[in-house]
Amino acid sequence: MDYVFRIKRYDPDVDVKPHFEEYTLDLAPTDRVLDGLNEIKWHHDGTLTYRRSCAHGVCGSDAMRINGRNYLACKTLMKEFGKKITLEPLVGFRVIKDLVVDMEDFFAGYRSIKPYLIAGEAPAGAERRQTPEELARYEGATKCILCAACTSSCPITWANETFVGPAAIVNAARFIYDSRDEGAAERLRILNTNTGVWRCRTVFNCTEACPRDIEVTNTIEDVKRTLLLEQV
Ligand code: SF4
Ligand code: F3S
Ligand code: FES
Repeated sequence: MDYVFRIKRYDPDVDVKPHFEEYTLDLAPTDRVLDGLNEIKWHHDGTLTYRRSCAHGVCGSDAMRINGRNYLACKTLMKEFGKKITLEPLVGFRVIKDLVVDMEDFFAGYRSIKPYLIAGEAPAGAERRQTPEELARYEGATKCILCAACTSSCPITWANETFVGPAAIVNAARFIYDSRDEGAAERLRILNTNTGVWRCRTVFNCTEACPRDIEVTNTIEDVKRTLLLEQV
């Protein structure tokens, strides 16, 4: 079946501004968008540039805008769209080339919330035990693959480069609500600012965009409630 891929191309070495190029491909409805991109790169135009690695929704590297919404190309089947699909790089990031964007600010936001366990010495000869209920408190947030589909879909991040963004807040929550962690107060202080959770206006785009079905907005609201109740 013929599908038309309309792809926003931009090579800073030769292009003054981005433009669209079209490729007609013979694909099955059950092929993934990533299969189409690989078909173009391997058989039609080797200059097409995009990120991908695992091809199974795990590494988070191939988030992109497909028909105006963020998806992982490797988790999205052709049959979800019509015969013509438009692919663009994530919005709100500087484009390096074609579908590849500069993720440095995204990861700086992620690093700013200290995304690692902060804890003293474990009891000698013992593990840091946790009940299933304690795990359930933050387990959803552990599914994040740092694809940036949420942060890129948030209109606040388009207008305000200093907003830490939903992905960073989800990853902060992953440790704030971990019973083994002792850095919650520190992370909550970092997020208790105009560039932290209070910049979020509960738009919900982030939740819709998340390919891991993480309740991103609810997680942000959870952190806001914790801040209000504990008055950190
Ligand atoms: Fe991607 Fe979801 Fe993590 Fe955001 S919360 S970076 S959309 S996996
Ligand atoms: Fe943005 Fe999500 Fe908040 S889309 S405004 S971070 S609910
Ligand atoms: Fe790894 Fe799609 S290529 S998530």
